[in-house]
Amino acid sequence: MLGTGSVGRTIGSKLVELGHEVRMGSRSADNEHAAEWVASTGEGASQGTFADAAAFGELLFNCTAGTGSLEALGAAGEENLNGKVLVDVSNPLDFSRGRPPTLSVCNDDSLGEQIQRAFPEAKVVKALQTVNAAVMVSPASLPGEHNIFICGNDEGAKAEVERLLQSFGWPAERILDLGDISSARATEMYLPLWLRLMGAVGSPNFNIQVVR
Ligand SMILES: NC(=O)c1ccc[n+]([C@@H]2O[C@H](COP(=O)([O-])OP(=O)(O)OC[C@H]3O[C@@H](n4cnc5c(N)ncnc54)[C@H](OP(=O)(O)O)[C@@H]3O)[C@@H](O)[C@H]2O)c1
Repeated sequence: MLGTGSVGRTIGSKLVELGHEVRMGSRSADNEHAAEWVASTGEGASQGTFADAAAFGELLFNCTAGTGSLEALGAAGEENLNGKVLVDVSNPLDFSRGRPPTLSVCNDDSLGEQIQRAFPEAKVVKALQTVNAAVMVSPASLPGEHNIFICGNDEGAKAEVERLLQSFGWPAERILDLGDISSARATEMYLPLWLRLMGAVGSPNFNIQVVR
């Protein structure tokens, strides 16, 4: 688990609850958010640097701030990413000019693609980042047949992530595969709408449903 924010901690806790062992990585080996998470999660949870976590994991999650993700993955070490499924939950939100944030990359490129280009041997699967952390691991907390999206170049990696999402409670028919990693442009460019929807509905706990 690369990232000590609410997404890393929420997904990390769900994974431990499901019986996985999770090492949470940070820029520092003794990050206080990670330490609190380890203490409250108990057996199966540990912490370290980004490199420690990446070396430990069979499957990796990028849950770092989008503007720091390439730096975080660089610190994790290419050798620790090669050949592994890397679930990219980040959004390229740039808060440097205030709120609402802008996208640091968009239109003809995406953070998902930048990560895949920077680490060509990693199997990047963009997933989950169109919903709040609580909804990611508890889709049944919202009514309706709402959807989640996955994108990536490696079919086997996407199948593995689909199984993982099903273990989080996402029914198979609600997981929409949008295609290769360039589809991350679409799911990342959804964020400006997501932010406005949050303001309009007054809560981050919502999702969208594709009807046809
Ligand atoms: N919050 C949500 O519900 C939600 C929903 C969908 C998607 N997302 C996306 O998920 C990601 C994580 O969100 P979050 O709210 O949990 O946490 P966050 O505050 O966006 O990110 C925290 C993590 O980013 C790392 N980080 C920040 N700047 C860095 C840099 N320059 N170099 C290396 N690492 C850096 C931090 O490292 P340290 O541990 O060293 O501090 C920390 O581990 C973001 O990309 C966000 O857009 C969030």
